[in-house]
Amino acid sequence: MDINISKASASFIPPREKKNILVASHLSHAFDYTLFENVDLEIKEGQSIAVLGVSGSGKSTLLHILATLLKPQHGRVLYDKQYLYERDSKDLLEIRRKDMGIIFQSHYLFKGFSVRENLEISSIIANKKIDDILLKDLNIYENLEQNVADLSGGQQQRVSIARVMMKKPRLIFADEPTGNLDRQTADDVMDVMLSYIQENKAGLFIVTHDERVASRCDIAYRLKDKRLVPVIL
Ligand SMILES: Nc1ncnc2c1ncn2[C@@H]1O[C@H](COP(=O)(O)OP(=O)(O)OP(=O)(O)O)[C@@H](O)[C@H]1O
Ligand SMILES: [Mg+2]
Repeated sequence: MDINISKASASFIPPREKKNILVASHLSHAFDYTLFENVDLEIKEGQSIAVLGVSGSGKSTLLHILATLLKPQHGRVLYDKQYLYERDSKDLLEIRRKDMGIIFQSHYLFKGFSVRENLEISSIIANKKIDDILLKDLNIYENLEQNVADLSGGQQQRVSIARVMMKKPRLIFADEPTGNLDRQTADDVMDVMLSYIQENKAGLFIVTHDERVASRCDIAYRLKDKRLVPVIL
C-alpha cells in the first residue's frame, strides 16, 4: 500500500520544545568528601524532576545550590538569562523571595504560633492572599487556628508546603516533602504540586527517598557515585 508521505508530514506539527527555567552546568561540590562532580541539569516549564539517593549522598546540597542558597565550588546555574551566583546578594535575595518556593527537610515553622499566623507571615512577605482552596486541597483547612507545635509531623509538613505554594513560586524545591506522610496523603500532596506546576508553567525539583513519589515525576535521577544518573521507575 502506498503511503502519501508528503500529506502525512504536512499534517505533523512537532511539539513545541518546553522552555528552560533553570539550567545548571558542570556542578561540583565537596564538604568533607566530594558529593558530586560535573552534574548537568535542566528544569523546564511544567516539568517535575525527582532525585533519589542514599543518605549523605548530597541531595539536599544539590537542592540548596539550585535554589540560590549555596554557591557551588564549580559550575554555574543559569536562571532568567543570568547566572545566579554572579548576581549581587540583593538580587539573589529578591529571586529567592519572589520566584523560589523552598520546602526544607526540617520545615522551620514558628512553633509558638498558629497555622494561620505562620501562613500570614508568608502572605505578607509575598503580598499574596491565603488561599483557602490550597489549604483544603492539602487537608489543613480545619487546622488553621491550632498551634503548629500541636500538629502531627505530617500536618506540619503540609503547612510548610502550603506556606511555600501560597507565594506562587516559579520553581518549587521540595526536600523530602512527603517524608512524614502516609501513602494516600503523599499522593494528595503530589497531586497538588504537580497540578500547580502544570497550570503555572512552573518547575518542581523534589528530593525523596520514596520511589513511588519519584515515579510520578517527569524525570527521576539517582545521585550515586558522585553522578546524577537517570533512572526508570
Ligand atoms: N554546611 C555543611 N558543612 C559541612 N558539611 C556539610 C554541610 N552540609 C552538608 N554537609 C555534609 O555533606 C554530606 C551530604 O549532605 P546532604 O545533606 O546534602 O545529604 P542528603 O543526600 O540530603 O542526605 P539525607 O538523605 O540524609 O537528607 C553530609 O555528609 C553532610 O554532613
Ligand atoms: Mg537531605
